[in-house]
Amino acid sequence: MEQDQTKKQLSSQKERWGGRASDWDEEIKKADHYANFENGYQRFLDLEKELLKKLSDLEAGIDLGCGTGVTSKVLAEKVKTIYLLDLSSEMLKEAKKKVPKSIILESSVSSIPLSDNSVDVAISRGVVVSHLPKELVEDFFTEMARIVRAGGLILFDFINRLDTVDFKMESNKNVFSREQIKLELEKRGFENMNFDGEENYRVIRVWATKK
Ligand SMILES: C[S@@+](CC[C@H](N)C(=O)[O-])C[C@H]1O[C@@H](n2cnc3c(N)ncnc32)[C@H](O)[C@@H]1O
Repeated sequence: MEQDQTKKQLSSQKERWGGRASDWDEEIKKADHYANFENGYQRFLDLEKELLKKLSDLEAGIDLGCGTGVTSKVLAEKVKTIYLLDLSSEMLKEAKKKVPKSIILESSVSSIPLSDNSVDVAISRGVVVSHLPKELVEDFFTEMARIVRAGGLILFDFINRLDTVDFKMESNKNVFSREQIKLELEKRGFENMNFDGEENYRVIRVWATKK
């Protein structure tokens, strides 16, 4: 059970993100938006397309913290069933417009309402794991490992450093080294880990497959 403090943090995140839903697509077009630091969001999208191109016959995929559905739309083209998960109903409403065939899950990435081994691909852009209350970080990895089938692909990004860019933060963020991420994923049965991003990058992308 989530503690009261954790619940409060999640509900304030939900409210904060909900208030940004209608403007998010415009917001991230601004050159000085953090989405464009190190060309991060575009790099993710390019990587997602490149990785998905190599896969076929995919049953199901999920976008964790899907926001307005930019990355979901790309994934939806490759899978029969597409799940969009986000804390914010406002974000999900926007995402549903981009991916009408989607199944909506209004939930936290730390508690995914799907059965074990139910998706072939899980993606998450926008350093969602770095936004989580600290005590839910482990659950992010555990839940991904639980819902992804053997042979399935995960792709997500995380904050690696905060000292190399001049950046004002609205809240505390979880920062991870590549080694930490590697350990967390290996521990849960992922292999073939790859990272995208320079050593000093604020945000790094990682992809891996489940054994
Ligand atoms: C930085 S935005 C990224 C949105 C989208 N993935 C994109 O790439 O444009 C973070 C998103 O994660 C969602 N989010 C934050 N914490 C979450 C949590 N614990 N569980 C599910 N979604 C969460 C927010 O509502 C928001 O839509």
